[in-house]
Amino acid sequence: METNIQKNSGYKQLSQFLKNNENTFIDSWEKQIVVNNDKDDKEQIRKNGILMYQLIIDSVLEDYSDDTIKLLAHKIAQERADANINIGDFVYNVNLGRSIIVKQVFLSRILVEELQSIIDLINKQFDKFCYYAVSKYTEIKDIKLNEKNIFISQSHKDRLSILGQMSSSFVHEFRNPLTSVIGFVKLLKDNHPSMPYLDIISQELEQLKFRITQFLHTSKMNTVIESKIESISLNNVLEEVVHFLYPSIVDNNIEVTTNIITDVEVIGDKNELKQVFLNLLINAIDALSEEKENKRKINITAEADLDTISVSISNNGASLSTDEIKLIFEPFYSTKKLGTGIGLFVCKKIIESHNGKISCTSIKDLTTFKITFPINFADK
Ligand SMILES: Nc1ncnc2c1ncn2[C@@H]1O[C@H](COP(=O)(O)OP(=O)(O)O)[C@@H](O)[C@H]1O
Ligand SMILES: [Mg+2]
Repeated sequence: METNIQKNSGYKQLSQFLKNNENTFIDSWEKQIVVNNDKDDKEQIRKNGILMYQLIIDSVLEDYSDDTIKLLAHKIAQERADANINIGDFVYNVNLGRSIIVKQVFLSRILVEELQSIIDLINKQFDKFCYYAVSKYTEIKDIKLNEKNIFISQSHKDRLSILGQMSSSFVHEFRNPLTSVIGFVKLLKDNHPSMPYLDIISQELEQLKFRITQFLHTSKMNTVIESKIESISLNNVLEEVVHFLYPSIVDNNIEVTTNIITDVEVIGDKNELKQVFLNLLINAIDALSEEKENKRKINITAEADLDTISVSISNNGASLSTDEIKLIFEPFYSTKKLGTGIGLFVCKKIIESHNGKISCTSIKDLTTFKITFPINFADK
């Protein structure tokens, strides 16, 4: 009983004191708060301050429902999120209000015995207020961020589908005549083995076919690619690819060393894997073509342990930063004048469809692309 009487008297005294001094409090608070001159609505901040102030008076007087404080906190969180203003300023301003009130409470003539519980109450209300506002603000921001991400991935998909449409008509218009030209060049070579330039023409046409096929892969990426799964000798595929690129390797004065353990058979789609190794080697050649200081080198290593097979392709050209490495597997990221930026994106999709992983590491004079497959990987 005694505590109740004491409580009533002290609490009433305080609420009266707060009521009488409302303007002084709010004015002094307003002078010290942090505002963003461009974005903040100062009128609104003052109004919110007054609402919070009254809330404190109410909560000193009676048993208090959390909902009122929550409502105000949520309203402010929404306002700040809409105006795109940091929540930090808000927290600072709220705590400023808290300390002004607490200071005044100390100065009022409330009995020392009552002081502690009053201050506890005020602190509790301010803590709740901050908690509700910050959680709501974070929630709103998360939703916004999520919407943005959905938008980005949607526009990413749109770009891919445009690319898909482009490339399927592109493929139809170019691939068929290209295949017959390649065939006729072969015939020409059979009939006139000593005719010059035919090898170069074949080589160029094959490169063109490779580029077109690369687009075809991207456009088909989201549909089921009809693939032919077979057991492939890694050794053979890598040899074929190096052979195919031999002219560019010689042309760029590159020394290729291979370290391939013999008899590694992998199960998968040969054309797709060839496409991956071609992409990686062409990128390595491109990187080395800019290399002026070192003797240009590419190393191809294939190894296997109990449960994985790995293939690494490295070169000693200029290195990539960590930030760049994050971007290179994205579609359309290219630093080359004539680059498409889809090579590594296609590689990643193909490797993932073989249950494998592809990664890149880069230090000074050594950039490595490493592919790992689980043994018996291709249950596509
Ligand atoms: N071996 C490498 N060394 C240095 N940079 C590389 C290497 N491979 C790829 N890159 C970087 O990754 C980018 C994307 O490669 P890719 O997807 O194959 O597209 P593109 O070759 O058309 O540019 C390249 O433009 C280049 O900046
Ligand atoms: Mg490339």
